[in-house]
Amino acid sequence: MKAFTKLVLVGVAAAFVAFQWRGPTLDPESLKGARVLVTGASTGIGEQIAYHLAGFGAKVVITARREKVLQQVVEKCQVLGAQKALHIAADMANPSDPERVVKFAVDKLGGLDYLVLNHIGPSPFAMWDGDVEHTRWLMQVNFLSYLQMAKTALPVLEQSKGSIVVVSSLLGKMCSPFVAPYSSTKFALNGFFGTLQHELAMQRSNVSITICVLGLIDTDSALEKVKGFTNIQAWPASEAALHIITSGATREAESYYPWFWYYTCLFRDWFPYFRDRSIRNFYEYEH
Ligand SMILES: NC(=O)c1ccc[n+]([C@@H]2O[C@H](COP(=O)([O-])OP(=O)(O)OC[C@H]3O[C@@H](n4cnc5c(N)ncnc54)[C@H](OP(=O)(O)O)[C@@H]3O)[C@@H](O)[C@H]2O)c1
Ligand SMILES: *[C@@H]1O[C@H](CO)[C@@H](O)[C@H](O)[C@H]1NC(C)=O
Repeated sequence: MKAFTKLVLVGVAAAFVAFQWRGPTLDPESLKGARVLVTGASTGIGEQIAYHLAGFGAKVVITARREKVLQQVVEKCQVLGAQKALHIAADMANPSDPERVVKFAVDKLGGLDYLVLNHIGPSPFAMWDGDVEHTRWLMQVNFLSYLQMAKTALPVLEQSKGSIVVVSSLLGKMCSPFVAPYSSTKFALNGFFGTLQHELAMQRSNVSITICVLGLIDTDSALEKVKGFTNIQAWPASEAALHIITSGATREAESYYPWFWYYTCLFRDWFPYFRDRSIRNFYEYEH
């Protein structure tokens, strides 16, 4: 009898894990002709998001600072099958650029279905050196510009029953050494857009917000940073990008990539001492 109960429990747990792992499936047709603005799309995950969307026949506007690189990404999007592919160079540290970029996209695409907020400014992977100004600047780039773009896009998304997709990080859920400014901006994003999810639901808004929580991804900038510090496995950017598109298109409130970080966050506060010791053990550090 006891063995039977155990078997049932294991079965239920396995079914639960399998269900979570499978996640919702994407209907690629739903993205054909979809009007999408992707930020931070000159390289890394944002670039991969643009390519997937292009392959699905979406209309994309991409943005980042480097015009030449954006031009090359746009050309590749056209080859991959985008119905439309345009770029606009902008610096999200400049307080007037976020609004300018959204207006450009709405104007050129004749509306907007998805706002994919993905860009981040560069930040050192190092112990905090007391520099408050860098964090202030990074807050504008990684956090406040997201709010400015969301604000400008919300009325348009309300009409199209569209979505805001926020690319966040495990470092917005858990604290880890060497990333104080970056982690602050990601915690802020989770706090802000988590609140906005509640408020939009209470107002019966047509707009969905998806918060994507990513673990380490194999983009050049991320690998460059952690090199020599840790050998945690990095997951492929192209797969992360597809995961972001899928969770946005299926209007999930929150999604995790790779999936197992969901469980890490679920059990995060059960054994804090053990958790913090193992986080520090991930990193090589000579005092
Ligand atoms: N890679 C990871 O391990 C990892 C893990 C968890 C979460 N994430 C999240 O995933 C997202 C993408 O990460 P990634 O690794 O792909 O980043 P990335 O390769 O460093 O790309 C960052 C993008 O942002 C743009 N950018 C930088 N500064 C900007 C500014 N001031 N104004 C406008 N655009 C700017 C860059 O283009 P320009 O230089 O041309 O401006 C680039 O297109 C981020 O939100 C990140 O937090 C990544
Ligand atoms: C949702 O969209 C419809 C149009 O389809 C619009 O009439 C309505 O005002 C929108 N809802 C909100 C809360 O704006």
